[in-house]
Amino acid sequence: EKGGYEHFMLKEIFEQPKSVHDTMRGRLLVDEGIIKMAGIWDHVEKFKNANRIIIIACGTSWHAGLIGEYLIEEYARIPVEVEYASEFRYRNPIITDKDVVIAISQSGETADTMAALKLAKEKGAFIYGICNVVDSSIARITDAGSYTHAGPEIGVASTKAFTAQLTILSLIALKLGKHNGNLGNAEFMSLIAELNALPKKIEEVLSTTHELTQSIAKDFVNATNFLYLGRGYNYPAALEGALKLKEISYIHAEGYPAAEMKHGPIALIDENMPIVIIAPKKGHYDKIVSNVQEIKARRGKIIAVVNKGDQQVSEMADYVIEIPETSECFSPIIASVPLQLLAYYIAVYRGANVDQPRNLAKSVTVE
Ligand code: F6R
Repeated sequence: EKGGYEHFMLKEIFEQPKSVHDTMRGRLLVDEGIIKMAGIWDHVEKFKNANRIIIIACGTSWHAGLIGEYLIEEYARIPVEVEYASEFRYRNPIITDKDVVIAISQSGETADTMAALKLAKEKGAFIYGICNVVDSSIARITDAGSYTHAGPEIGVASTKAFTAQLTILSLIALKLGKHNGNLGNAEFMSLIAELNALPKKIEEVLSTTHELTQSIAKDFVNATNFLYLGRGYNYPAALEGALKLKEISYIHAEGYPAAEMKHGPIALIDENMPIVIIAPKKGHYDKIVSNVQEIKARRGKIIAVVNKGDQQVSEMADYVIEIPETSECFSPIIASVPLQLLAYYIAVYRGANVDQPRNLAKSVTVE
C-alpha cells in the first residue's frame, strides 16, 4: 500500500505531480481560458460583495491560508485576514453577514476549525470549506466549498494536502480576480498557463532534488536548531518548512520572514546554525541577497533554495537546491517540495518514526 516507498510520507511527497493535477482537473480549462468552480460561481456575489474574507485553519492548513491571503489580496483585491481557528473562536471576533469565512482543513474534522466555523455561521457569515476528506464534518456544515482531491493522506505530516490547498487557493484567487475585473485577461491567461505547468515542474524538482536533499540531510542529522527564512509568498513557505522539520525530526526549527531576522533571530546565528533560505528570482530577490550577506558575515550554514542558474545567492550558500522558475505566487508550491524531502531525510537518518511522529495525531478532534 506504500507503493514501494519506505514511508507514506515519501509516497505522498512523490504523489504531488498527480495530486496537484487532480486538484486542477476539470477546473482549470487552459484552452478555453476559464476556471470552473461551481462552489465559487454559485456564490460569486457573496465573494464579490464581501467586506472581507476571513480564513481560519490550524497548522499546515493555516500556512496555506497565509499564502491564500497574499493570492486573494493581490489578484482579487478583497481584504483577507487569516486566523488560527483556536484564537478566533475564543476572542469574541467581529463577524457580520457581509463576511465570507473560508475554513481550510485536510481532515475536515479539526475541532477548533469546526467550532470556529459554527461561530461564524451563527453570526451570519457565509462559510466556505476547503477540505480534502470528502463528506467530512467541516465539508458538511459549510454553505459551499471546494475539495482538494489530493487523495488520502496517511502520513501525519501534511505534504500533498498542503500543495493541493495552495492550488485551490490559487484557482479561487484567479477566478475571483478575473470575475471582479481586478485581473486583466492577458495576465490571467499567463497565470493559468503557469498553473497548468506546475505538475511537470514538481516532477522535475522531485527528480533533481531527491538525492541532493538526502546528501544535505546527512550533514544535519545532529543539528539542534534550524532557521527557515523567506519573503513574500515564501514567508509562509518558510513557516511550513520549519514545521515539517520539527514535527518529524524533533529538531527545533523556526520560520521567519527574512527581514524580521534583524529584529531578534540574528542573535542566534553562528557557525552552528543551519539556515534554509528560500530565494527564487521573482520575489524580492535583491532583498534576500542582503539577508544572505548578513548571515554569511556571521558564518551561518546556508542552505539556499534558488532558481536554476542563480548566481548571487548560490555563491554565498553552503548548499544550493535549484528549483524551476514559476510565477512568484506559485513558487511556494514548488519550493515546498525539496523542503519536505529535506525534513523527511533528516528524520529518517535520526531514526524517527516519520509517519507517526510522537505526540501527534492525524486529525485533531479535541481542542
Ligand atoms: C502538520 C499537520 C497539522 C495539520 C493541522 C490541521 O503537518 O498536519 O499541523 O495541518 O492539525 O489539520 P487539518 O488540515 O486536518 O485541519
